[in-house]
Parts: sequence; structure tokens; C-alpha cells
Amino acid sequence: MNKFLVGALAAALCAPMAVAAPAQKRVPLNREAKMRVKIDSLMSVMTLEEKIGQLNLPVAGILTGDARSENVAENIRQGHTGGVFGTIGAQACHDLQRIAVEESRLGIPLIFGLDVIHGLETTYPIPLAQAASWNMPLIEEAARAAATEASAMGIAWVFSPMVDVCRDPRWGRIAEGPGEDPYLGSEIARAMVRGYQGNDLADSTTVMACVKHYALYGAPEAGRDYNSVNISRQTAFNDYLPTYKAAAEEGAGSYMASFNDFEGIPATANKYLITDVLRDLWGFDGFVVTDYTGIAEMVPHGLGNFEDVTLRALDAGIDMDMVSEGFKNVLPKAIAEGKVTEAQIDAACRRILEAKYKLGLFDDPYRYCNPAREQGAVYTDADRQLARAMAPETMVLLKNDSQLLPLEGKEKIAVIGPLGDSPDNMFGMWSMADERVKPVSVYQGLKSALGADRVKFAKGCNALSDDALEAKLSARGGLERDNRMPQQLRAEALALAAESDVIIATMGELMNMTGEGASRADITIPEPQRQLLADLAATGKPVVLVLFTGRPLVLTGEAQLADAILNVWFAGSEAGDAIADVLTGKVSPSGKLPVSFPYHVGQVPVYYNHKSTGRPHPQGQPYIKYRSNYQDIPNDPLYPFGYGLSYSTFEYSPVTLSKERMGTHDICRASVTVTNTGTRKAKETVQLYIRDRQASSTRPVMELKGFEKIELAPGESRTVTFPVGARELSFYNHELEYVLEPGEFDIMIGSASNATQSALLTVE
Ligand code: NOJ
Repeated sequence: MNKFLVGALAAALCAPMAVAAPAQKRVPLNREAKMRVKIDSLMSVMTLEEKIGQLNLPVAGILTGDARSENVAENIRQGHTGGVFGTIGAQACHDLQRIAVEESRLGIPLIFGLDVIHGLETTYPIPLAQAASWNMPLIEEAARAAATEASAMGIAWVFSPMVDVCRDPRWGRIAEGPGEDPYLGSEIARAMVRGYQGNDLADSTTVMACVKHYALYGAPEAGRDYNSVNISRQTAFNDYLPTYKAAAEEGAGSYMASFNDFEGIPATANKYLITDVLRDLWGFDGFVVTDYTGIAEMVPHGLGNFEDVTLRALDAGIDMDMVSEGFKNVLPKAIAEGKVTEAQIDAACRRILEAKYKLGLFDDPYRYCNPAREQGAVYTDADRQLARAMAPETMVLLKNDSQLLPLEGKEKIAVIGPLGDSPDNMFGMWSMADERVKPVSVYQGLKSALGADRVKFAKGCNALSDDALEAKLSARGGLERDNRMPQQLRAEALALAAESDVIIATMGELMNMTGEGASRADITIPEPQRQLLADLAATGKPVVLVLFTGRPLVLTGEAQLADAILNVWFAGSEAGDAIADVLTGKVSPSGKLPVSFPYHVGQVPVYYNHKSTGRPHPQGQPYIKYRSNYQDIPNDPLYPFGYGLSYSTFEYSPVTLSKERMGTHDICRASVTVTNTGTRKAKETVQLYIRDRQASSTRPVMELKGFEKIELAPGESRTVTFPVGARELSFYNHELEYVLEPGEFDIMIGSASNATQSALLTVE
């Protein structure tokens, strides 16, 4: 087969700078020269111990793992600390910074990091929900606003974006990422890095991004957190690595190594991932930090004793050690014994000092931790408006029989379900908001939208049948268990349903059922709530399921019971009002799924961009022997990738191509005209997919390669055009060469991965 090599892995390894980050994202030359002078002169007076000190990152304040760091202030004073994470607030950061600047020998400022995952005080929808918005300018704007707020609260470095592509909804951390698709995930990675870092890190309202979890953390076996990753390099390059690469191209300042192993080597010690791919192939020149106790955890991984694993981490290319204190305690002796060189330590130390320089910390160590600046910069009206405006764009209308939504002409509204009046459970995982932030529940939001006399609430049941688990998961979600008898709760709900015109069933997961260490095997709505929904449906009243979730759930039963399903994910600090905005029709929901919702957990992993197999099952057919299918369930998910309804309707014209044949260097333009055929102004995400019909390796049945979110008034039409060229049609072949192989390609455009029209393009 005739191959056009867009770029060969091997060649790039020899010439790594060929794929370096875009020039405008780099420090300008004169500043780069000044930086070198400053850091050279500083390092010339640093002792070995002080250099190693820069590589040490303790936690102080909010703990996000089992281990804690001791003697943080004293270690800062002794020059044994490069940064601190977990400390929130300008004053608290200022107090520690003062010790570093005024009491340590060289006064090197600290860098303060934090998990700003979807905002800090003002909380935006969880990342998986943001992915459902398919609105990159909006995602960038939210990251920019989060950076401005966090940077006023002491933080110069955010542990975000999390860009782990994931095809397994059992994994709780799917909530923190972009979903199942590498193209959508890469666009999100770029938007978030731009939002956090802005055009200039020296601007004190920008923060340094930390891209995580490098790499492949979203593919743990069996969906169990921290588990091994077993995928091929080819799958890694085509499906899982593009998001991390996109962030490097956008100029991300730092990366966090992941907990998992890959090819038998934990990422923290994986020289191939960190040095060969990230630094040498992609040209990344920032620093790499471990995850929480990532070094120490390589002992139970079985890689050797604490000294062995520490040395392997440094050798792999890790610069900063989060919480393990391996670098701090092992490296001085290892140097003396000749097991590592001072040059290795210098390289890591330099990268961390460079990050501090780029953030302007040498000019003013207190620029991010000025309590006066924090005043009035947190949970501002503008940020809250942004969070509220973003939420409807993330909500996915999964079902809407007889146009039940929006709630027009319904006088008496019953909000029923354990999540209907639980304001503190609205944020989503990784929420660090304090008492300044006053979220409202769905019940409260609807009351203020429609008037208190029209809306009533009954809890109906507790969220989980296991009360000990519910208590554990509610600890930071503020849900209170109702100690009344289950029958009593149900009777109250049914009485309310009987006197109402419509039931808003507020159900799903507690916010702490996703996030770190939150894998689930049974990915359904918890049992007492499913039962309550069945009872409510049996009343014959129309039922809208308002679904809270941080992962795809199996909703096969609920899809039969509810007349409408609005998936609201966890929409952040303004969720209650934003959900009311959508339910009442003030705004049409415009989210589209960034991940497939399985029909049955036994399908997992089920994702739209799968391969064909040699015995494909004809779509829509029942079970056939000797075909790739199941006897008891269909192959297709219940709700596919890209799917989501609107309060309006859209019609797509056939796909037209600017040319039907082209060379490997050419670009073809693929167009459709989309018309709003409904009665409301609404947004629609137009999606471009391709299929490579024949290649040297098996290729997915379809792959997303472009999208555009548009807004149309009733009756309005717009033609949307996508370029199709080498960027869209190339892939990593078996030899890991990035190639465009001539042949036939289906060019598909539509409103979801299962609703496209197609045209044929031939590449010669
Ligand atoms: C562990 C998590 O895996 C990571 O996402 C987080 O940034 C660190 N802890 C720090 O909190």
C-alpha cells in the first residue's frame, strides 16, 4: 500500500523539537534569556540539599490521600520544600510563603498548587458535564474564570485539566475527564490550558496548568481505580495519548504522572512515557510531578524498596515528588554513593525554578496571595452568572415524550426524590467551596422560578439502601438521612404525586459516588430510588426524571418508566437555579453525550468508535450465531455518544463534498445545511465523523473529526462546513508511524454518532 508519512515516530524521536509547542506559547526570547541568567545565578549558590528541596511537594490543609506531610513549616524554613498543595486562601498561602521568603536561607518562593477541577469557590459543572457542552469557548471561559478566582486565593498552579480518555463508566474518575473520545478530549485539553494559562503566565490572574494523569489512567482494568492498564501502544497512540499531546502543543506548563502501570512499569517510573514520548517526541519542556505518594506506591506495585523506586522515578524523568518524600530522603545519600548524578538533580531543579520564574514569583512572591486582592474576587456575580449560563449547555435531554418538557401549562409541581432538596450535594466531586457559597436545590430553584405555592417537595426515600455507605458518601455532600420508615416516606411522596400535575423525580448518584476511589460495579440508579420511580410512574402522572450522575448509568428500566429524562450531571454551585431555568423553558438544554450510556453493564466497555470485527452483527437484528453479538442484549448502548435532544428540532440536508477525489495533500470541504424546524431558538452541535474503509490496520467504524455548536432561531438555516484532509484522515499504524493511507473514506455528518448522513471521499 502506498503510504504518505505525515510524521514517523522514529524520526521524531531523533528530532524531538520538530513537534515542539507553538512559538507564541513559549517564553519570549529576551525573557527566556533573563530567566536563564536568573536561574543560573541562583543555582550557583544553592547547596545540593537546597536543590533537592525544590523537588519536594508536601500537602498542607486539605488532604486528598491517606498520607500526610509532617513539619511542613520547618521544612520550608530549612529550604526542603519547592511547593505546597492543599492550602487554600490568600492569607494561609501568604503565611507559608513568608516563611519561605523571609526565613529560608535563599528566600526562594514556593509554588502553591491545588485541585481546581471545575472551579474553586464558584463551581462550574463537572468536567464530564462540561464535555457534554461541546462548547470550547465556554469551557475556556470557565477555566479562565476559575484561574482568576483561584489566583486571588493563593493558587498559582492547578492540577487540571484531567484529560484521561475513558471507556469504562465503572471508573469513578470518568466524572473528572472529557469522556470517551480522543478528538473531543483534545479540543477540551486545548481549551482548558488556554483558559488557565492565558497568553502570559506572568499575568497574575493566570495559573499554570498541570495535565493529568499522565498517562492512560482512564483505562484501568475492570474499571477499578488505580488498576493496571493493558492496552497496546497503537491503541495508546490513536485513542488515549492524543489528549495529553494536545495539551503539550497548547503549551501546558506541567504534567502529573498517573498511578497506573503501563507495559509493566508504573507511570511514575515509566521513562518511555515521560522522557521518550512526552519530552522527546512531543517537545514538552516543563516539569513533571508525581501523583500523591506516587513514588512510595511503587513499593506495593512490587518494583523494589523505597530507595529503588525513588531512583527509578528520577531516572524516568520525574521532577517533583508529591508527598512521598523519596527525593528528599533518598537522593542525598544516593548522590554520595554515585547512584545518581548531580546533573539529574540540577535538571529537575531547574525546571521547577523555571516554572516559578514564568509565574512571576521571583518578581513578587506574594502576587497570588494578597489578602486584599482576594476580597471581592471570589464567588463574584459575574462568575456565578457564567456558571449558571454554562449549566444548561451541559445538560442532556435523553427523552422527552409528547414534549413534556419544558413545564408549560403545568400548575402544580411535585419535586420528589432524595436529591430534590439537597443543596450541598449539587456541586459534584472535587468541590472545595466554603461557607461563602450558597447553593440552592432543585426544589428551591423551582420555587423561586415559579412561586412557592406551585411547587412542593417530598423526599420519597433515602438515596441508598446501605445507610453506612450513605453516611460515608454524604460526609462532604451534606445529605441527611431521613430516619422515618420507608413506607412512611413513600406514602408521603405518593400523596403529593396524587395532588400534582407533574412529578419531577430528582434521583441518581450522590456526588461522592464518582471521583477518586469511587468505582462501582452496579452502575444503575441506587435501588430505593429505582423502586420509588416505579411507584411514581404507576400513579399515571407524567414523570420527568432529573438525573444526577457523574458517570454514564444504565437507565434501561428508567427509560421505560419516565416520560422525560433530563441528565443534569452535577452542575456546580448554581445548579439549582440552572436546572429550574431548563425545566421551565427559559433555556433549552443543549448537551450531547461525550460518552455512551450502556444498555447493560455487561457491554462495558461500550464506545462508539469501536472496531468492526470480522463477523460484524447487522445492526438492529436479534441474536445470530457466529456473529459478534450477545444472546441476551443488543450490542448498541442505550444512548450513544453525541446524542442529546433539544426543545427544538433540527433537520439536516444531505452531505455535500467540495470534491469526491483528492490527493493526500489536499483538503476537501464537507458541508451540510441545518435548519431549526421547531418553534424555539436553540443550540445544536453538528458532528463530523469519518470511516477509513480499508487500511493496513483495523480502523474504528467511525471517528469524530470535527464539530460545531450553532444557535438557530425557528425556521433559520445555516450551512456548516468542515475541512477534511491529512489531519482528519491520518492514524498511527502498527509501526506507530502517523500515516494517511489512500483509499475510500465515509464522511459522515449528523446530530449524533447514530444519526448521520454520509458521502464517499476517495484519497489517491
Ligand atoms: C490524587 C489524585 O489522583 C490527583 O488527581 C490529585 O491532583 C492529587 N491527589 C492531589 O490532590
